[in-house]
Amino acid sequence: MNAAITATARYLPEGVLTNKDLERMLDTNDEWIRTRTGISERRILRDPAKATAFMGGKVAKQLLEKRGLRADELELIIVATMTPDMLFPSTACLVQDIIGAKNAWAFDINAACSGFMYALNTASKFIEAGTHKNVMVIGGDKMSSIIDYTDRSTAILFGDGAGGVILEAAGSEGYGVLDARMYSDGTGGKDHLLMKGGGSLNPATHETVDQHLHYIHQDGRMVFKSAVTSMADVAAEIMERNNLTSDDISWLVPHQANQRIISATAERMGIDDSKVISNVARYGNTTAGTIPICLSELDDRGDLMRGSNLVLVSFGAGYTWGGIYVKWQ
Ligand code: ACO
Repeated sequence: MNAAITATARYLPEGVLTNKDLERMLDTNDEWIRTRTGISERRILRDPAKATAFMGGKVAKQLLEKRGLRADELELIIVATMTPDMLFPSTACLVQDIIGAKNAWAFDINAACSGFMYALNTASKFIEAGTHKNVMVIGGDKMSSIIDYTDRSTAILFGDGAGGVILEAAGSEGYGVLDARMYSDGTGGKDHLLMKGGGSLNPATHETVDQHLHYIHQDGRMVFKSAVTSMADVAAEIMERNNLTSDDISWLVPHQANQRIISATAERMGIDDSKVISNVARYGNTTAGTIPICLSELDDRGDLMRGSNLVLVSFGAGYTWGGIYVKWQ
């Protein structure tokens, strides 16, 4: 039996960082940011005592409530993040503790902006295999914790947020997560999109802090080119493999990095703008959070009907990218 999404939820912190705010901090301007990225504002988790697990916990509690599940009924928690609260324990274990899911096992996946896609695909296998009745999948990042707010090329792009879903066996055949294609290219990411400091190669020292190695580093132009090609290719592949025409697709749910990348992917698929989900203007790039946040907004708007065909696509550091086809049950 396929895995189906049976609940969605999201958490966006209240703090807002607008393009006007950034104008006061950096040599940039609202018009440049909106034209090049489509972003107007992003959410920031300003409380230094709170991080990704806090946002994940907020999402997890809503998911249990929406699905009517008790925490002790949950069997597995997977959290996709590249900004874990700590290198260990995993953020998934911290979320487990927050909600008291004492019978669940829990682990993290790090595939940067494709993290939720990798986690959703992985989680589906536990349901398909019949070994698990339910899996909670959360994607979220506190990007503000690794942003250099003196670097205008990255500071404008990212925001904080988290979203998630519960997966269970689909009620009938032909519904749920029907196809997934995942890719990695380790040659692409190590020079163009990375955080050098804080791991075992460059553990924290005064020098690594002075050299700003604990912040995200991105060669935007290089990443842009790869993102456009890879997201469009994998979206086209998902359509071909599943005999989907653009008319068949109800919603394209792309990773929210840049409106130009989203529009290029939609154009390649021949999909009308009205079917393309975009909230990058309001939240910027929340990394592993973007796709589940989009799903939750669609769900809350009542725009997910039985039989709706969703194509999810992502691209991120690694490089990592992928596409998933879901028929909503
Ligand atoms: N404000 C004003 N000017 C700026 C800013 C800014 N914030 N940032 C850069 N510029 C300048 C540059 O210095 C450059 O000036 P120059 O021509 O004098 O050298 C000019 O604007 C153009 O810079 P580019 O980097 O070529 O701008 P581009 O159109 O490529 O847009 C951007 C940059 C928005 C970063 C884009 O490349 C992008 O979106 N890249 C992909 C991001 C992405 O998808 N990341 C993957 C996911 S993230 C993850 O996995 C963690």
